[in-house]
Amino acid sequence: MEPPMAPPATLAELVATRRVLITVGAGGVGKTTTAAAVALAAATRGKRVLCLTIDPARRLAQSLGLQHMTTEAVEVRPEVLASVGVPETGSLTVMMLDTKQTFDDLVRKYSSTQERADKLLNNRLYQYVSASLAGTQEYMAMEKLIAVQRDARFDLIVLDTPPTANALDFLDAPDRLVEALDSPTMRWFIQAFQSTGRFSLNVLARSAALVLRALGRVTGGGFLEALAELLAQLNDLFGGFKERAAMVKGVLRSDEVSFLLVTSPAPMSIREVQFFSERLADHQMPRGAFIVNRVHMPPKVAQVTVQQVDDALKAHGLVMDADFGTRVGQAHADAVKLAELDAFFLGQLAAHAEEHVPVLRVPEFATDVHDVAMLARVARTLEAGGV
Ligand SMILES: Nc1ncnc2c1ncn2[C@@H]1O[C@H](COP(=O)(O)OP(=O)(O)OP(=O)(O)O)[C@@H](O)[C@H]1O
Ligand SMILES: [Mg+2]
Repeated sequence: MEPPMAPPATLAELVATRRVLITVGAGGVGKTTTAAAVALAAATRGKRVLCLTIDPARRLAQSLGLQHMTTEAVEVRPEVLASVGVPETGSLTVMMLDTKQTFDDLVRKYSSTQERADKLLNNRLYQYVSASLAGTQEYMAMEKLIAVQRDARFDLIVLDTPPTANALDFLDAPDRLVEALDSPTMRWFIQAFQSTGRFSLNVLARSAALVLRALGRVTGGGFLEALAELLAQLNDLFGGFKERAAMVKGVLRSDEVSFLLVTSPAPMSIREVQFFSERLADHQMPRGAFIVNRVHMPPKVAQVTVQQVDDALKAHGLVMDADFGTRVGQAHADAVKLAELDAFFLGQLAAHAEEHVPVLRVPEFATDVHDVAMLARVARTLEAGGV
C-alpha cells in the first residue's frame, strides 16, 4: 500500500498535491469568493483550473467574463488573467452549477429506456421536485464534480457548495436524497398508486382515502396521480441513485480531495466550522485548511486622541462638527475592540485545529470582492498564509 501523502501546510502545497478542493461553510461566510480566489491562486501557479461555482455575485461573474450567467463552461479571457499576473501556462474556466440540468442528465443515464426518461422529464411535477427535494442542490453539486473529475483538460477542480444554512447539510445530502426517495411515505404513496394510472383508494385505510380525496379536490384533477406517477418513476431510478450516492461519498474520501473550511470570525460560525471539521474527520474526509474570512484587523495606530484629530483637521484646513474628534476616537476604539474580539475567537480555533490544518485569515475589506483585482488580492493573502 502507498504511504499516506505528507500532510500539507500551505495553500501552495494543497494546490500542488490535490485534484479537487471543496469550499464548505455556513451561509454567506465567503465560500464562493474563496473558491474563486483559490482557483485564481492556482492559475497563477500555472495550473489549468476549473471552478464550479454556485450563484456568484453578478458583478464578480461579469468581471470574470461570465456576461450571461450561463451554465456552460466559460474560459476567463487570457488578458483578464494576465492583468493579475497569471502566466500563459495557467488558465481558469468557470462553470455555474445547474441543479436541474444535472438531475436531468442523471435521469437520462439511469432510465432503462429513452421513453421512460422522457416520460419522467415531461412529468409536470418533475421540474418542481428536481429543484426542491431535500438535499438535491448539494447532491447535484457532487454529481457534477464526479462528471468532471477525470477531465484531462484540468489540473485542478475547485468546487463551491450551495448556500446551506448549516454546513453539515452538504455532507448529509446523498443520504438525505436517498432517504427522501425511499421514505415510508413515498413507498405508501407509490403502493396506493396502481398500474392502471389511478389511485386505488380501497388499498388505503379509510381515513387516508378520505384525506386523499379531499386533497384531490383542493389540488385539482390529476395532481395526485401526476405526483404518484413521478414518485413511481423516480423510484424506478432509485437503485441507480443509491449506488451513485455511495460512490459520491467514496470520492469525497479520496486522497485527491481536500475540504477548505470557510468561516467568519464570529463565535457561532467558528463553533459550527469546528463541529463540521470533526464530522469530516469522523468520515475520514481530508481537511485542507480553515479559512477565516472577513477578519477585523487592528487599526494601524493603537490610540486616537481628540487632540490628534483636531490637529489633523487643522493641518488640512478642514472644519468639522465640534464633536467630530470624539466620534472618530469612538469609532477607532470600536475597531480596536472588534479586532480584539476576533483575535480571541480565532485563538480558540487555532487551539482546536490540528497542526496539519492551517488557519488562514483573510481581512474584512472595505468593499465587496467584486472584481478580478480584488479576487487576486484575496488569492495573494491566502497564498501568503493569511494576514
Ligand atoms: N473578505 C471580504 N471582505 C469584504 N467582503 C467580502 C469578503 N469576502 C466576501 N465578501 C463579500 O461577501 C458577500 C458574500 O460572499 P460569498 O458570496 O462568497 O459568500 P458565500 O458563503 O458563497 O454565500 P452563500 O452561502 O450565499 O453562497 C459577497 O458580496 C462578497 O463579495
Ligand atoms: Mg456562494
